[in-house]
Amino acid sequence: MRRAKRIRTLCGELLPCETFADVGCDHGYCTQYMLEKGLCRRAFLTDISAESLKKAETLLASYIREGKASSACGFGLEKVPPATEQVLIAGMGGEEILEILRRGFLPPVLVLQPMKHSFKVRRYLLEQGYGIDRDYTFADGKFYDVIRARRGVEVREYDERCIRFGYDNVKTPSADFFAKVRRERAQCLAWLAAAGGDAPEVEARVAALTEVYDEAQRNLR
Ligand SMILES: C[S@@+](CC[C@H](N)C(=O)[O-])C[C@H]1O[C@@H](n2cnc3c(N)ncnc32)[C@H](O)[C@@H]1O
Repeated sequence: MRRAKRIRTLCGELLPCETFADVGCDHGYCTQYMLEKGLCRRAFLTDISAESLKKAETLLASYIREGKASSACGFGLEKVPPATEQVLIAGMGGEEILEILRRGFLPPVLVLQPMKHSFKVRRYLLEQGYGIDRDYTFADGKFYDVIRARRGVEVREYDERCIRFGYDNVKTPSADFFAKVRRERAQCLAWLAAAGGDAPEVEARVAALTEVYDEAQRNLR
């Protein structure tokens, strides 16, 4: 079955591995992809909501019967074996993702799709010594960030702008990233016009958006 672009994009960032965990799996589509393509030997499905987990258990019932997948209801990584090689956490806020990692463990490969506060996620991953090798925005109705972090790869050097906006967005920008910046900038300007100015935080955001847009444009050349 053809999935939404967001799911296909996330699947495209997953690496072949021995063991894979989908935290906050809900429907379980990404795990289905890993198992169907033979990209992992064993998969763990977990969700804090029993009702959500049930959807994945139904979708992946044959793999669970064969012993290739197992499921558990719980917070974050609490029921996931700590030796798991690759962990996907998608569709949650960045602060919640960080709480899951702090209360759980740090696997060799993380694929994360924070719904907000992506900059906090990037900062934390770099502090923990990960190399971030994929870090970009894509559009699928809304704009989404995807961040892949790995142990043992080159640690690309992040300046503050890369932390705020995403390394690949700044260095090798896509049309989706430009569209996102244009849209947010227009929203800020409309807000300022309606408020009659005097909103230093919004003005600072407009300046940051203008600067990242200009740098990304220069990096296109
Ligand atoms: C918006 S859905 C995203 C589902 C899927 N990961 C995706 O990207 O399409 C968020 C899922 O995360 C689960 N969730 C939220 N907080 C969680 C936590 N702390 N630990 C485990 N699961 C959590 C929710 O129950 C829900 O099923």
